[in-house]
Amino acid sequence: MKVLVVGSGGREHALIRALARSPQHPELLCAPGNAGIAQDARVLEIGAEEIDGLVAAAADESVDLVVVGPEAPLVAGLVDILIESGINAFGPSAAAARLEGSKEFAKHAMRAAGVPTGRWTAVQGVEEGLAAVPGYPCVIKADGLAAGKGVVIAGDAGAARAALEAFLVERRFGTETVLVEECLAGPELSLLALCDGERAIPMAPARDYKRIFDGDAGPNTGGMGSYSPVEGLGEEQIAALVAQVHQPIVDHLRERGTPFHGVLYGGLMLTATGPRVLEFNVRFGDPETQALLPRLRSDLLDALVRATRPGGLADVKLDWSPQWSVLVVLASAGYPDKPFLGDEITGLDELPPEVEVTHAGTARRDGRLVTSGGRVLGVAALGGDPDSARRSAYAAAQMISFAGRQMRSDIARGVR
Ligand code: AMP
Ligand code: GLY
Repeated sequence: MKVLVVGSGGREHALIRALARSPQHPELLCAPGNAGIAQDARVLEIGAEEIDGLVAAAADESVDLVVVGPEAPLVAGLVDILIESGINAFGPSAAAARLEGSKEFAKHAMRAAGVPTGRWTAVQGVEEGLAAVPGYPCVIKADGLAAGKGVVIAGDAGAARAALEAFLVERRFGTETVLVEECLAGPELSLLALCDGERAIPMAPARDYKRIFDGDAGPNTGGMGSYSPVEGLGEEQIAALVAQVHQPIVDHLRERGTPFHGVLYGGLMLTATGPRVLEFNVRFGDPETQALLPRLRSDLLDALVRATRPGGLADVKLDWSPQWSVLVVLASAGYPDKPFLGDEITGLDELPPEVEVTHAGTARRDGRLVTSGGRVLGVAALGGDPDSARRSAYAAAQMISFAGRQMRSDIARGVR
């Protein structure tokens, strides 16, 4: 079996590692990959958004399965084109990927499917937006893909106006529509489910740390760390959440004639009055995947192939190690605004074998490993309890150096 993973981040590196553990021993390709992925798969120099190039390469290489990591090629219809070309692919069609591509579409789907979410109004003008504010703080969201930067929590009318103007007048994300939403409070949860068009099969729960600094201070990032499982959420609670959130969406999309195959990622807030969906993503989370997959004992490849077939996940239950997993991200200086690139990375050769290092923004230049992106590396460790996993991950992360390295020190702190 020949598998092509599309993407170049820590998520894709973790997917490659987990696929390599499959008893089917797949041959692994990755486009475009990074310096670390190049040690575990054959990399093809094709960008994750070069749809035609990816389809041509998958055909030339007679790939059996394409696994699409990031959202942009999914929203652009990569999976549809691959399937029309006779190449099997894991991930939703463009029609189903609108759940992530349009927040307004996702809200309508949730309303139709009866999935709990914050109250919202879709607006196209600044004054209309201000009139729709349910109270402060409120949340202003750009409708389209915004790489995590399209959400503003506005504390007063001045901040709300500034966000509405940035999104609707300056058209910062090319969007014509903005959602004005009630501000919810509570712990967040990343709950992913594998879907086969008919059924949603839960993955283990994970928590993501989105802010750059300790104590959730500073701007949002792609994610600075993660852990799994999540305290207080046993199998029963997870099954109840998936029945309330993921399964109704899968049913709704099937009824619309656009069945959802792939990973449906629910970004939830567990409020005092019950769970609410903040957003849906239509792909594996980054960095949640790097924390989750080291715990997966089932054959990932088998599960992904089954998810591509209608009803293929019937009777599948994913098997997770009871161990805790903690993932710490090392980011470059200046991230998330203006990451400094090109600094030499050292210390990777001396790490204990039980930690799993995933590469994100790394490149090889003149034989040296250098930083080439905002998030550079992830260090994951397993442990019998959250604290021992946390200590192992940090002990290894401290051994890795590059100029201006940024790392939160509070990932999974206080979890028990
Ligand atoms: P999203 O991209 O919609 O997940 O939003 C990014 C982040 O903004 C979330 O992880 C939350 O921390 C925050 N957020 C989004 N929607 C809300 C909301 N309705 N109330 C409070 N915080 C929110
Ligand atoms: N960790 C958040 C995301 O993958 O969107």
